[in-house]
Amino acid sequence: MTGKLFHITTMGCQMNVYDSEQMERLLAAMDMQPTSDPRRADIVLVNTCSIREKPEHKVYSHLGRLLCLKRKKPGLIIAVGGCVAQQEGRRLLKRAPHVDIVFGPAAISRLPGLIRRTKEEGVRLVDVDGSAVDAFEVIPAEFQQGRATAFVTVMTGCDNYCTYCVVPYVRGREVSRRPERILKEVERLVDTGVQEVTLLGQNVNSYGLKNGCGIDFSGLLEAVNKLDGLKRIRFTTSHPKDLSDGLIRAFGELEKLAPHIHLPVQSGSDRILKRMNRRYTRDSYLKKITALRQVRRDLAVTSDIIVGFPGEEMADFDDTVGLVESVGFDNIFAFKYSDRQNVAAARFPDKVDESGKKERLARVLEIQSAITLKKNKGLEGTTQEVLVEGLSKTGDAQMTGHTPCNKTVNFLNFSQKGVRVGQIVPVHIVEGLSHSLLGMPKSFWEERFGKKGGILHAA
Ligand code: 5AD
Ligand code: SF4
Repeated sequence: MTGKLFHITTMGCQMNVYDSEQMERLLAAMDMQPTSDPRRADIVLVNTCSIREKPEHKVYSHLGRLLCLKRKKPGLIIAVGGCVAQQEGRRLLKRAPHVDIVFGPAAISRLPGLIRRTKEEGVRLVDVDGSAVDAFEVIPAEFQQGRATAFVTVMTGCDNYCTYCVVPYVRGREVSRRPERILKEVERLVDTGVQEVTLLGQNVNSYGLKNGCGIDFSGLLEAVNKLDGLKRIRFTTSHPKDLSDGLIRAFGELEKLAPHIHLPVQSGSDRILKRMNRRYTRDSYLKKITALRQVRRDLAVTSDIIVGFPGEEMADFDDTVGLVESVGFDNIFAFKYSDRQNVAAARFPDKVDESGKKERLARVLEIQSAITLKKNKGLEGTTQEVLVEGLSKTGDAQMTGHTPCNKTVNFLNFSQKGVRVGQIVPVHIVEGLSHSLLGMPKSFWEERFGKKGGILHAA
């Protein structure tokens, strides 16, 4: 496959981002090169997501566009991976006759073999065998240099069966990676310049509990915290029911653990939480938030919310709004409930109509936007330690990075003056916006405006 080009489109969560990076490393080991232009590629890979209806639709419209590409270039190999691939398997080959390979998340390590066979034998292949427990143990030959942040999967799958969620069906049972493999991977990332790792799992709090890893998640965090050269640790996602006292304590004890937790509450109504099979109550969730804030006063908390779950009445939704207001999240991701294949809630009779869901979504988002903006405005004039990650999405006039609390900060591109990707730079926050902060590296701010600062919108 020497000299062939590949293009990967990644949809969905950070776990897919990590999986796509593993694919990239495997294809690079086959002497293939990445291209950002799918029209130039010899192999196009799509890493798909089926968590909600909207991302799944996106997969099919994307595959529709790839049909035009295949018509122009019949030798093109199209490979579909991720959760839709796992869920649909052979059906996907039928539905999209231009697709050559369908491979599930557990088949990533077998991708090179699948590509070779398709190329040499001209066959269309499906590999959705999820039984190989070490399938995500691809030890990559190459690590990209010069990145400030990286994801590391510590476990896959989920045993919780929330009644709306497809994850247990497509990602299978919980499997934890051996701690020594995780530590080795983090060390190698640090060697390439990575300063911050995010440990990934659908439910990281269950890490190590059933695989005899010898340590639980707080033990893993402690071990990662000891690695030389690493500056920040993040993790996602935690289930509130499993948030242990040890993990709460870790926020007070581990100096590299960033002060941010993503703790999806989903609903503020006990009745709906029960129907969702979440196994915690509104009150126990609020108590955990209080305990976390007691050990780490500056802790940022974000959450996921589902509106319009079957049977959700206005009073239930009001409970969710009340909870959003009383916790004062730094941000939320809110979604309209959508039926997924096989999940229990798909069979619940009392569905909320689309317009009701839309209205509730708009309302909860509006309330949260005001809270987020107020919090961001509250940071104006403060100095934040920003890990510089690269140029901002808007182009090369600005650089971007994150605060310890995971707020995005954009600031003028000072690379000419020595500001580099991977540095942690004190940044004076000039303006708090609804989705980000605008700032200026503190030393340049003081150079221009003196120690007290002056003109608010100078950056
Ligand atoms: N409908 C709407 N939102 C969902 N999520 C998961 N499944 C569904 C569904 N069927 C949301 C949850 C979860 C996030 C990743 O996606 O809020 O935390
Ligand atoms: Fe899905 Fe619930 Fe597992 Fe999260 S904990 S992945 S919402 S089943």
